[in-house]
Amino acid sequence: MPATIVVGAQWGDEGKGRVVDWLAREADVVARYNGGDNAGHTVIAQGHTLKLHLIPSGILHPAINCIGAGVVVNPERMLQEMDELARAGVDVGPGRLKLSAAAHIILSTHRALDGAREAVRGGTAIGTTGRGIGPAYADKAARVNLRAGEMVDAERFAERVAQQVEMHNRLLTGIYGAEGLPVDETAAAYREYATRLAPYLGNVSAIVGEALDAGQTVLCEGAQGLLLDLDHGTYPYVTSSSTIAGGALTGLGFGPGRVSRVLGVVKAYTTRVGAGPFPTELSGETGARIRDVGAEFGTTTGRPRRCGWLDAPILRHAVRVNGLTELAVTKLDVLSGLERLKVAVAYERDGERATHFPAEAGMAALADWRPVYEELPGWTEDISGVRRREDLPAAAREYVARIEAWAGAPVTFIGVGPEREQAIL
Ligand code: GDP
Ligand code: IMO
Ligand code: MG
Repeated sequence: MPATIVVGAQWGDEGKGRVVDWLAREADVVARYNGGDNAGHTVIAQGHTLKLHLIPSGILHPAINCIGAGVVVNPERMLQEMDELARAGVDVGPGRLKLSAAAHIILSTHRALDGAREAVRGGTAIGTTGRGIGPAYADKAARVNLRAGEMVDAERFAERVAQQVEMHNRLLTGIYGAEGLPVDETAAAYREYATRLAPYLGNVSAIVGEALDAGQTVLCEGAQGLLLDLDHGTYPYVTSSSTIAGGALTGLGFGPGRVSRVLGVVKAYTTRVGAGPFPTELSGETGARIRDVGAEFGTTTGRPRRCGWLDAPILRHAVRVNGLTELAVTKLDVLSGLERLKVAVAYERDGERATHFPAEAGMAALADWRPVYEELPGWTEDISGVRRREDLPAAAREYVARIEAWAGAPVTFIGVGPEREQAIL
């Protein structure tokens, strides 16, 4: 079986974790391809509530779970997550968890730099997760960063960490007027992490390639979402990696001909954490209601998520940029009880109409575009127990059908509650 890619089609937190958990039943390999512990993927199944940041969301299934070259890894956080999973009785041994030797390392000084850069930005801060993501990817692109493979020699790795920390300290104290971090202590901590993580190192591109050659099923898990993509999102209010389907190819190391399905995960409304444009944002009572009912608080930082109406031009942008073959619509249950639903169906500027989200226009130009709304009737029924599409209230069925029409892609999964089984397939 060829590869399936699961991507977020909005600003992240669409429910990728639960969709990957569902699809991973049939997967031989599940592989994360981008981002770091800025991600927070929730899986609720088998009596567990997992908040996964680095470990792929297939970890409750027998599949081999891989972290690819495109990921930036904070070794301390990875070990913490592995320890938590092990305490919950989940097997996270080196036989089924693999870390690409080509993945990049996040140092504690990257986190400090993340905070220092945000502080300097002041009112134009991005609202990052503070996990050191931007500074680590910046060092990767500048070709000065450490890679996971260097952990095979813990002594040498610690020396290299010390050099990096010294370099970062010069930036922190000299440019940002912030405190540096203790060099020897940090190097010693990373020596320990290296010793523990070395057995997990592997060639993820080869694992994925050999699985595909053998006719096995590979499931690629994206973090974040389309509009947080470094190239195709709402720059500069984005993350620093390729969140889109193309990121799976570069982040894992396989070719486009191997992909048969690209599944875009879409929340039935829209949310965003952090700063940046959000044209359909609801600032009043309806937004607050969606936040409460949908429990829209960040998995990683606990910040309240900004909530708004569904935006069809974003879905079309997602279908085009990712080549989506299908959609998974999550959290449809959260809309129950709203009398009328609004959906942005296009954008308008001075009489000009756009049916795709004008993300390329840049932030200043985007501010000139206004969403054009269509109103649809809501439904009052509790739908969390519904398991067949035809059993949904007519208005909910119509809402899903309209999503298919706006996006031009079929909906193959509908989430009606957070638990694994609360879905219409
Ligand atoms: P991810 O980052 O895309 O994996 O999404 P998150 O896990 O950060 O956020 C999605 C949240 O919505 C989590 O708390 C999930 O448990 C929850 N969730 C996912 N699907 C559904 C659904 O269909 N209905 C409801 N009510 N909650 C859902
Ligand atoms: P998952 O995988 C939602 C947002 C941050 C901030 C911006 C940049 O759970 O969908 P960063 O720390 O990456 O430099 O922050 O991106 N962000 C996310 N928002 N879901 C995520 O991941 C996110 N990861 C980063 O809030 O606005
Ligand atoms: Mg999340």
